[in-house]
Amino acid sequence: MEKLEVFGANTLKGQVRISGSKNASLPILAATLLSDKKIHLSNLPNVKDIATMLLLLKSLDTKIEYIKNKKLVSIKNNKKNKKFVSYSLVKTMRAGILVLGPLLARYSKAKVSLPGGCAIGTRPIDIHLKALSKLGVIYKISKGYVHANAPKGLVGAKIKFPKISVGATENLIIAACLAKGKTILSNCAIEPEIKDLVNFLNKMGCKIKWIGKRTVKILGVKKLNEVNYKIMFDRIEAGTYLIAAAITKGKIKILGINPKIIKTEIDILKKIGAKIKLKNNNVFIQGNKKINSININTAPYPGFPTDLQAQMMVLLCKANKRSVISEKIFENRFMHVSELNRMGAKIKIKGNRAIIEGNTKFEGAELMATDLRASVSLILAALTSKNKSIINRIYHLDRGYEKIETKLKKIGAKIKRLA
Ligand code: EPZ
Repeated sequence: MEKLEVFGANTLKGQVRISGSKNASLPILAATLLSDKKIHLSNLPNVKDIATMLLLLKSLDTKIEYIKNKKLVSIKNNKKNKKFVSYSLVKTMRAGILVLGPLLARYSKAKVSLPGGCAIGTRPIDIHLKALSKLGVIYKISKGYVHANAPKGLVGAKIKFPKISVGATENLIIAACLAKGKTILSNCAIEPEIKDLVNFLNKMGCKIKWIGKRTVKILGVKKLNEVNYKIMFDRIEAGTYLIAAAITKGKIKILGINPKIIKTEIDILKKIGAKIKLKNNNVFIQGNKKINSININTAPYPGFPTDLQAQMMVLLCKANKRSVISEKIFENRFMHVSELNRMGAKIKIKGNRAIIEGNTKFEGAELMATDLRASVSLILAALTSKNKSIINRIYHLDRGYEKIETKLKKIGAKIKRLA
């Protein structure tokens, strides 16, 4: 199994180009099932989860063509797709559940494996299913699969989500695009990836309009058109490199992003002491000798993203005083803490709060990644440790970070992949 070898401590300097967003690509790829016209998607990140989603679409008889070293993908559904999505494809990538909405919208029928849990939580889909039933879907769960159908096809409805859910918002927006009549969804998640999905759907001929901060109106349509679409940048990758610069007191220029979208992260990094300048679609960050402590709650967008919680924890280990991070989104997203403590961190968990002592001197160690974002936090800690670290199970990392060791090496990290 591959692993990463990292020698610390180094200061990162140079520039990094951010890849396309994994979490925008996944719902957009799922949404292509709505259409039987040609779709060109560019700027898809070359990461495992995207490969898995493309495999999943192929298993539904979608025709997929890679053009120009996979940076451009041409997608075409015929008049008929398969409607069965196997556990083998969904167990490693929970976003597979996002094809449920489009399959029901197009064919009024689908059998999709339940995602199952993962390191960070049980990942239920009750909000997705209850909302779909308001569009006329009848479902039952048996042997680990959702068996769903809509005898009268999907019919628009007014739906208020009981809790903010990115996936449920995406599934319902996609499903409502072909439903008969009008659908109003309220208490929606408004992550930038959802806005990117809506932009893609409207370009394809759907009729979606935000009528409130967390309320969206969708008018069902019958006809869709061919579309070329460029996926937005990955804001979590961008945030990860900003934090890397702050931790190593380095100086990095992040290229190809829209700084407005990561305003919360940038404001917090400035409070912590990093010097940040914005220019067009680039962000310059200079890490500071003194790192101020700060208390952070993860929250739905535009709050601080849970997907940056592990990375921020490493930075706060280096702060001058104690900090507290409260994880308000997932019930078990502190798997990285035990590994960080093995490297010399002093972090205590109390319920959903991590109490982080500052002034940590990280020591390199043999480490084990547990989930996508935890694995990158181990790299950040290794970059500031004395001597060598080995990070095992980096298949977690490869799910969502494109060419991470190449990008890090280019800005001065001593990192290499060992077979
Ligand atoms: C999306 O997951 C992201 N994944 C996650 O990123 C991200 O952490 C999460 O949103 C929160 O921002 C993708 O976009 C592919 P949720 P999702 O539905 O949609 C509970 C990464 O690292 N819930 O907003 O699964 C759920 O258990 C990944 O890239 C229900 O109870 O997140 C969680 O506690 C990790 N019932 C909370 O809501 C449901 O039906 C938020 O989940 C659905 C969710």
